[in-house]
Order: sequence, then C-alpha cells, then structure tokens
Amino acid sequence: AAGAAGLALGATGGALVHSALTDSPEAASTGGAGAVASLGATRIAFDGDHQSGITTPLQAKGHVLAFDLAPGAGRTEAAALMRRWSDTARRLMAGETAPTADTGIALDAGPSSLTVTFGFGHSFFERTGLTSRRPTALDPLPDFSSDRLDPQRSNGDLWVQIGADDALVAFHALRALQKDAGEAARVRWQMNGFNRSPGATGTPMTARNLMGQVDGTANPKPADPDFDKRIFVPAAGPGPAEHSWMAGGSYAVVRRIRMLLDDWDKQSTAQQEQVIGRTKATGAPLTGGGETTKMDLAKLAADGKPVIPSNAHARISAPEQNGGAAMLRRPFSFHDGIASDGSLDAGLLFICWQADPLRGFVPVQRKLDRGDALSEFIRHESSGLYAVPPGPRPGEYVGQRLLE
Ligand code: HEM
Repeated sequence: AAGAAGLALGATGGALVHSALTDSPEAASTGGAGAVASLGATRIAFDGDHQSGITTPLQAKGHVLAFDLAPGAGRTEAAALMRRWSDTARRLMAGETAPTADTGIALDAGPSSLTVTFGFGHSFFERTGLTSRRPTALDPLPDFSSDRLDPQRSNGDLWVQIGADDALVAFHALRALQKDAGEAARVRWQMNGFNRSPGATGTPMTARNLMGQVDGTANPKPADPDFDKRIFVPAAGPGPAEHSWMAGGSYAVVRRIRMLLDDWDKQSTAQQEQVIGRTKATGAPLTGGGETTKMDLAKLAADGKPVIPSNAHARISAPEQNGGAAMLRRPFSFHDGIASDGSLDAGLLFICWQADPLRGFVPVQRKLDRGDALSEFIRHESSGLYAVPPGPRPGEYVGQRLLE
C-alpha cells in the first residue's frame, strides 16, 4: 500500500498527522504534495479479485441506492447499463471525468478514495430471465418480529454503494451514475450517510456511531486466516456451475436502522454500557482490558450474574454464540432531519458483508431479534439483500460473467 495520509483535521496545533485510515492494499496511489493533497489523491482500484467498497476503510461520505429496471428493460439493457456504469466508475475512481457530459462538480478534486460497488437483488433475475443462475444465498431474508420495514425503501433490482472522503466527489459520482441509468433503470430508493473524516482523530481509531459507541471493534480482519472464507464466495465452491459467476463475490445485507436517540440519551452511561457489554469511552469489554481485549463471557460479578449481561448486544452477536456466524460490518451513519412525528430521523445504514447470509446476518439477527438489550432503542425500517459480483478484470464490466 502506498501509505496514504490524512490531515489531522481535529488535532490541535495544526500538526500534520499521517493516518493509516486509508492504508489499505487497495490504495493504489497518493499525491506527493503533502497530506492534504494526498487525501484527495488517494485512489482505490476498481479492478481486482473483489469489488472495492468492501474491505476499503470507511469513507466519510456515502450514498446507497437501489434501482429497478424500467418496464420493458431486460438482460440486454441490463448488460449495457452495467457496462456504462462500470466505465464511469472506473474512470471516476481513477480521478478522471465522466465519459459523457461531466457535470464538473468534482473538477478540482482528486478521487478522494472514491469507491463504487454494484449488486443484484433477487428480482433482477426474473427481470433478466436469469433465474436459473440465481444463487440460493439470495433467497429473501426471513421476517424478524421487530421488523418495521418500508417496502418502498427495501430491495430493488440493482444496488449501488458509493463512498468517498469528499462529499462533492461522492455526489458527483451519484449524479453520473443516475444519468447513465437513462431509460434503462429508475431509482427505487436512495439513502445518504457519513462517517468520521480521515484525520479527525489524533490517531487512527475505530469509528463511533450516533449512539456514541465505538463500533466495528470485533469485525473480522483481512489478516485473519478465515477472513476470505467468511466474507467472499469461494472460487470453486460446492455450488452448481450456474452460480460460478459469483466466485470472489460477496453478499451485502443493507438495513436502515433508526436509532431512538431521545430514549437512548436518557440512559446513564452505565446503563448504556450494560446494553452493549462494552465501555463507551474506549469500547473495552466490561470484563476489562482495552478495546481489542477479548470479552470474557463466562466472568461473573459478585452477585453471581455475568459481568457482560446475558442480553448485551456484543454477547448475543458474537460468533461463539452463533455457531461461528460472522460478517464484516461496514456501515454509514445517517441523519435525515426530523420525521413527520417530530422525532429525530437518524441512525445507522447497517451494511454487512458475508460469503453466505445464512452463515452471517440471518442467524445473528434471529438471535438479536429474540433478546437484544439494544432492541428497544432501534427500529429496522428497510431491508435489502444483494449479490455483489467479484471485481472486474481490466476491460471487463461488473457482472459480465453473469450477463454476457
Ligand atoms: C458488535 C452497535 C446492529 C452485529 C457491536 C458493538 C456495537 C454495536 C457498539 C460492539 C463493538 C464492535 O465489536 O463493533 C450496533 C448498533 C446497531 C447494531 C448501534 C444498530 C443500530 C447490529 C445488527 C447486527 C449486528 C443488525 C447483525 C445482525 C454485530 C456483531 C458484533 C456487533 C456481529 C460483534 C460481536 C463480537 O464478535 O463481539 N454492535 N449494532 N449489530 N454487532 Fe452490532
């Protein structure tokens, strides 16, 4: 990786602190003119074994949207659209202008770690006459008792995730891709999110969510020996040959989870920590140590109760409590102002990645649905599951191995 850097925007004294936040194997190049320039110049590769935007470090700004193919559009139109989208994404991620009628919105900026990730929903395969090649892993998610889902903001034929460390760069990509859709597809829903800006903390650290918790600590790490197996579809899987187009791909579960922050903020810090099982200040387990210390789920307090409560979110969702089920959580926070009932419309655009949702999101959410202390402070408002094909080879478009 080309040691990318971030300006220490949040640091006092104007010191430049180099951050490892963008120090990923995908970071292809950075500018040479100091930290500020390199933040903009950080480029993520579009081509590769896997699409970008999965293991790429969290970006400061995100747009997540689904499209439906237009009436009458089928496989031919879908293939042409994926070609246009891939062409645009490849160029914008390299810091070039859009292939047609660039809007100029990002003219002065570098790609700023822009990533564009494409996926296919369950309904895409009927629309394109490709149901025989639809993997069973894309079967609709089960209903959960706490679901309050809005169908208009769920699912969709095509899914696009845009991330960048600059809001104008992200919006520029969004506009270009919407225009590329042309007559072939229409936006079904769109959500906008954000994360901490690179360099806002003095030293790189795990991000916080809008409840103030350190969120992402126990995520599988690319260096883990079983990381690829958990997150990406194997090259020569046990599945039928019709599904081989997904080798190297991944499945994204997307949930818009509203946080009931007025209720949450009324809890004391101690109460909030019991809900998760970790401290708010550092994210360390309540059983002691630092952020990355393993939770001691067996440890009992003087009163004989577990120190990490039996309904604590981090206990219930841990792989050892779910037959090893694990996922890579890579969310954005969202804030859409005030809802019609006067409550704050903010929360987590929860996005998680796994080789198979039945060994990732589904068993964990089933368990959380039955007894997570966090449940009374959140509401799942929309849901999507998407097959995200492998990364393209140079010159290829995303999904070509399915659509050509
Ligand atoms: C862990 C917050 C929803 C799965 C955590 C942690 C926090 C957190 C603070 C502990 C730190 C960490 O390891 O990242 C939240 C919030 C949610 C939410 C605020 C909703 C707004 C979900 C959902 C799932 C999930 C829907 C999956 C169905 C996990 C997993 C862990 C975790 C797998 C790691 C457990 C471990 O291995 O220790 N979450 N979470 N979370 N969460 Fe959530």
